Amino acid sequence: MTETVLLVGGGGREHAIARALDASDATLYACAGNRNPGIAGLADGFETLETTNPKAVVAYAEDVGATLAVVGPEGPLAAGVADALDDAGIYAFGPNADEARIETDKAFQRRFMREHDVPGCPDFETFDDMEAACEYIDEYDGDLAVKPAGLTGGKGVRVTGDQITKEEAKAYLRESDYDRVVLEERLVGEEFTVQALVANGDLRVTPAIQDHKRAYEGDEGPNTGGMGSYSDSGLALPFMDDEDYDGAVEVLKATVEALEGFKGVLYGQFMLTAEGVKVVEFNARFGDPEAMNTLPVLDTDFLDVLVAAREDESLPELSFAPKATVCKYGVPEGYPTDPKAGAKIEVTEENAGDAILFYASVDERDDGIYTTTSRAFAVVGVADTIAEAEEIAEDALAVAGDEGLHVRHDIGTADLVQRRIDHMAEIRGE
Ligand code: AMP
Ligand code: GLY
Repeated sequence: MTETVLLVGGGGREHAIARALDASDATLYACAGNRNPGIAGLADGFETLETTNPKAVVAYAEDVGATLAVVGPEGPLAAGVADALDDAGIYAFGPNADEARIETDKAFQRRFMREHDVPGCPDFETFDDMEAACEYIDEYDGDLAVKPAGLTGGKGVRVTGDQITKEEAKAYLRESDYDRVVLEERLVGEEFTVQALVANGDLRVTPAIQDHKRAYEGDEGPNTGGMGSYSDSGLALPFMDDEDYDGAVEVLKATVEALEGFKGVLYGQFMLTAEGVKVVEFNARFGDPEAMNTLPVLDTDFLDVLVAAREDESLPELSFAPKATVCKYGVPEGYPTDPKAGAKIEVTEENAGDAILFYASVDERDDGIYTTTSRAFAVVGVADTIAEAEEIAEDALAVAGDEGLHVRHDIGTADLVQRRIDHMAEIRGE
């Protein structure tokens, strides 16, 4: 039987999922709030709808006869889209809203870690009263990360001693209308991501990736949803050892054990510190951009994983091409604070050379594809080394030009990778 898969979401991550499913023997339909021309080109049908409306998603899934669904973004998960699909008899690879709280409620996430003795939990306190939080900031001996408990698209966290002072942190809380915040010890080190495919109590891990959240080169500027990312040809990254990677996997295993019934992607954001691997956060979905690093090198049929998950079977072991990847986002000029939409995107799937082009938020007009105010497209190089993959990505960016676009050209360069290695060596006192 061929499977009919409904993909929910229209970003670069979902374009990568669509491409993986296109390589499988699946009939693909997709729905998203924005029309993604890359996904639309691969799918038999593409519906623009409100993906945080479970009824609308289920109606479309039933309409196209979906036998499986993959939910890409966190918004629909938080809104109960996976629950609604499951209730309608359409297996959703994605957690129900309650399990997605591991991502959608940072206070829950930290308490969960503490309660279940998941390793790598930083010191933290949660506050519903912002004045009490401000007092804690005054009394705390050391720097803190200030984190709104709810979803903020990666843009709500402020770290004292890094982006802001303690006085600014208090002003930030007083000016905000947050109901609940987590204050936790500032972790110092190098960040990395490890994602696992999870179902039926099984967990299958994927290679480590380093994302770049800051908007500008040299890790300056405001936080974004992620400007680009790289992975190496093995499981670990150049600034870490295999044991560090294994430490992250141990955290994910402990989490899956404690989260009975979780299905979908468990994404661990880790900080490699002088004391080992600590958890920055969990997400309940593939990362964006990270999915664009992971899925192009996944040799295992992604559909086989989804079917095994649905059939209550053990998940297949994953195999990955021994290739490095570099992903760079093209975003509108001024992103994220003052983005200017309307730049024509000159790079296409045909002229991107050896790079893979993924579309995110774009505006398709008669005469071409234009930027909106969000991340527009990403190019991904896949090669034997990070340096070669970086060159492939840059060749495609040269086709895109820089008119109205901003790119972090430093991502995946030998220089920046070396700085990560040096930084880690310094932290470890080597
Ligand atoms: P999050 O939304 O939890 O991923 O946080 C966004 C970014 O804030 C992370 O990618 C980190 O760079 C930073 N961050 C979050 N928590 C901490 C922490 N405890 N210490 C240092 N940086 C953090
Ligand atoms: N790359 C960060 C995220 O997907 O949340």
